[in-house]
Amino acid sequence: MEIIIQPDSRTASLIASRIIARVVRERTNPALGLATGTTPLLLYKELIRMHREEGLSFVRATTFNLDEYVGLAAGHPSSFHSFMDRNLFDHIDVPRDRIHIPDGLAADLPAFCRDYEEEIRSSGGIDVQVLGIGTEGHIGFNEPSSSLASRTRIKTLTQQTRKDYSGAFGGEENVPYHCLTMGIGTIMDSRICLLLAFGGKKARAVAATCEGPVTAMVPASVLQMHPRAIVVLDREAASELKRAEYYQWVYAHKPDWQKH
Ligand code: F6R
Repeated sequence: MEIIIQPDSRTASLIASRIIARVVRERTNPALGLATGTTPLLLYKELIRMHREEGLSFVRATTFNLDEYVGLAAGHPSSFHSFMDRNLFDHIDVPRDRIHIPDGLAADLPAFCRDYEEEIRSSGGIDVQVLGIGTEGHIGFNEPSSSLASRTRIKTLTQQTRKDYSGAFGGEENVPYHCLTMGIGTIMDSRICLLLAFGGKKARAVAATCEGPVTAMVPASVLQMHPRAIVVLDREAASELKRAEYYQWVYAHKPDWQKH
């Protein structure tokens, strides 16, 4: 696990954007795994800027989003689908037919999930998967106790997650109970896992993820088993890490050729 601690979410997001831009430039048909939520907003802003000002093109890219609420139409203002349109897809040149987001209104949800897995496989697999982290350690919507080998499927959101997402729905009572999410096994198949976490609210989950035992009770902790997991944090999110100084020292002494 590479742990990068930055003074703030802006510089952290710049590092994340360079990791993604490199994949987009270097792969012939890059497959990007994307997340929603507040965490990747600055990252998406920077990718849009790179597209406008530096000619970073997504025209050969395919994208797969982690999750979507069951029962929400793509056009619902609180759907992850409309979030992605607003915050990224409307502003870059990724072809619409290469954007994949779970369909929370699919008539046969288990069949949809199986097809989603197949589409990821047939794209050649995800090159880099962007991840945020829930306050209880979820990645995607793989809540605590999710199987570490799980694939794309239906999940029930915890009360904490419904509380955390209440803002987007104008109250907790309006937050759906169910979602479709890539599984932890699906996420672990990605060639790079890029986890971002900002703010003191995430500090406990981050410490458990990076320095605690690998356990289904903290789903993100499975990233300790990933050959290329990169965790990019601001100072507050890193505040409960016991070895923070060591991670900063390692980053400061990275050889030039390894720098992001
Ligand atoms: C979103 C997702 C979630 C979020 C996590 C953090 O697609 O899969 O795991 O990344 O809930 O959300 P924010 O970034 O809003 O704190």
